Amino acid sequence: MTVMVTGGAGYIGSHVVTALLAAGRTVLVVDDLSTGRRESIPDVPLVRLDLADPDCVPELTDAARAHGVRAAVHLAAKKRVDESVALPLRYYEQNVGGLTHLLRALVAAQVRDVVFSSSAAVYGSTGPDPVTEQHPTAPVNPYGRTKLIGEWLLQDCARAHGLRTVALRYFNVAGAAQRRLADHGTGNLVTATVAALRRADAPQVFGNDYDTPDGTCVRDFVHVQDVAEAHLAALDGLASGTPPPPVLNVGTGRGTSVAQVVERLSDLAGRPGCARFEGRRAGDPPAVVACVDLIGDRLGWHARHSLDDMLLSAWQATSA
Ligand SMILES: NC(=O)c1ccc[n+]([C@@H]2O[C@H](COP(=O)([O-])OP(=O)(O)OC[C@H]3O[C@@H](n4cnc5c(N)ncnc54)[C@H](O)[C@@H]3O)[C@@H](O)[C@H]2O)c1
Repeated sequence: MTVMVTGGAGYIGSHVVTALLAAGRTVLVVDDLSTGRRESIPDVPLVRLDLADPDCVPELTDAARAHGVRAAVHLAAKKRVDESVALPLRYYEQNVGGLTHLLRALVAAQVRDVVFSSSAAVYGSTGPDPVTEQHPTAPVNPYGRTKLIGEWLLQDCARAHGLRTVALRYFNVAGAAQRRLADHGTGNLVTATVAALRRADAPQVFGNDYDTPDGTCVRDFVHVQDVAEAHLAALDGLASGTPPPPVLNVGTGRGTSVAQVVERLSDLAGRPGCARFEGRRAGDPPAVVACVDLIGDRLGWHARHSLDDMLLSAWQATSA
């Protein structure tokens, strides 16, 4: 049985591909290499196309049939919040348009099982308590809205076309299983801090006057290898007689402050205490931590890696 992984050349996708191969699955990657890297997934069959192009549907359908695809993991998307605010049309075309084209091809090729990369961004502002899947969804930027629309689209297609789907709402993903799978973006706290430290700059911390234990924001950081394993559990869950709920959180259930993360990375760089504290950034909620009871109960999945494993792997993966 072949699993199609869209966005499989990207940061999280290449970890999903690696985990699937390690579990003995056959994989077909679909990626336009806009942010992904071929060298992250050498030797894996790749169909290079832009999912946002409506003309991709016949090629995608043929590829799914030719490779005997039985399930899909859809990670391909644009993910920069600031860019989504400046270029909303691009984000809707890419993230919503891309999913509609993929679903057209999967329905035509009679592929039933779909795992979708969603995000904690669908929740918008949250309070201090761990966020359950029942928390109201109120995304505060176009990126988050494209993810929420993606979840609805999947559920509508599940009803109309007999698909079995699950959307995984990742919290803050970081770390690397190996050097060639490093996150090359600079759009999140861990990658931005590592990049600043590698340039010998002071990493920035935005806001230290929040109502949190050390005054800085609290987030749920989850190791990318654990996230990859959640996709295997989700695929197994879909194929089982009792499919999982339509949406599941993927996090650790533990909150860590921004200052703790920056301080640990600064230690690893040999420059403890070098953080530069700035004012608050607009739109940053004080604390966002996942409740992970549901995914534990329904898929038996739990994050296994510690925060330190994650930060050390992120640091080592970018060493010269
Ligand atoms: N990184 C995170 O912390 C995080 C958190 C929540 C959700 N997500 C979601 O996880 C998924 C993967 O994120 P990532 O961090 O690996 O990002 P990434 O940019 O490294 O990977 C995205 C991959 O999709 C490919 N791609 C993008 N647009 C495409 C298109 N139109 N057609 C074909 N391929 C296309 C890119 O080339 C890349 O390989 C995304 O859907 C993202 O929204 C990520």
